[in-house]
Amino acid sequence: MKNCKIFAVANQKGGTGKSTTACNLSNALANAGNRVLCTDLDPQANLSMSLGIDRPDELAITMHEALSATMDGTELAGAGGYILHREKLDLIPCNINLSVSEINLRNELGGERILSELLEPLRSEYDYIVIDTSPSIGMLTINALAACDSVIIPVSPQLWSATGLTDLMQTIYKIKHKINPRIEIEGILLTMCDERTHLYRDAKALLDDFCGDRIRIFDTRIPSTVKVGEANYFSVSVIDLDAKSKAAVAYTELAKEVS
Ligand SMILES: Nc1ncnc2c1ncn2[C@@H]1O[C@H](COP(=O)(O)OP(=O)(O)OP(=O)(O)O)[C@@H](O)[C@H]1O
Ligand SMILES: [Mg+2]
Repeated sequence: MKNCKIFAVANQKGGTGKSTTACNLSNALANAGNRVLCTDLDPQANLSMSLGIDRPDELAITMHEALSATMDGTELAGAGGYILHREKLDLIPCNINLSVSEINLRNELGGERILSELLEPLRSEYDYIVIDTSPSIGMLTINALAACDSVIIPVSPQLWSATGLTDLMQTIYKIKHKINPRIEIEGILLTMCDERTHLYRDAKALLDDFCGDRIRIFDTRIPSTVKVGEANYFSVSVIDLDAKSKAAVAYTELAKEVS
């Protein structure tokens, strides 16, 4: 049996492909025979929706309840009733109530480690746990970084920002020194790529410069394709919608690269 690895998919910049990556990487890892748990740590609930939850706001038990129970030390967390067990992969969904957790975590002693407390006992049940995060570095994202083994950073050439990436690196560095010595950067993933454009080539050159040999850039790049939007529309992964599409093939390659 493998040791469980926990990935946080993070970038405080909005719309860089975090949720798409969390969804499709999880599906690709599950298709390769791994036991996978997806955890949605963004109150926008995009990951939950892309995994088939049409109305997250109608769910009675979500990540918010699981975090609250972990903070209170009550039964819910221990019983694991917050996990939706699926045929292919499991999910801890969330909804807008998770924004209340953000505030509660801020007021809790040791509030940075609550997600870690929730996920650690689950390591024995999964090969991979994938955490989707929100486009901000608040308490929820800090919890994801405190709970993970490594971070996957989706970067879109159109939205390239060296300043944003420097801020994220500094946060990861601080987390490593103060809260989670285990944390590593798994790699930077280029998403929404159109490799024929000047924009792509310029952004890639800047990124290569920024990373040097300190930070890995994945060989796999995710192409820009309308299939991703279609998959979101139908609340499925691109891999389930069309396993042969360019994005599905790329996410399958990414799963091999991180395994
Ligand atoms: N490879 C791709 N090709 C085309 N469109 C894509 C691709 N990946 C993501 N998108 C689209 O870009 C938008 C943002 O993607 P996504 O929601 O995954 O980003 P995010 O980083 O999770 O956003 P947020 O910061 O709001 O959480 C979505 O509309 C999605 O459909
Ligand atoms: Mg998202």
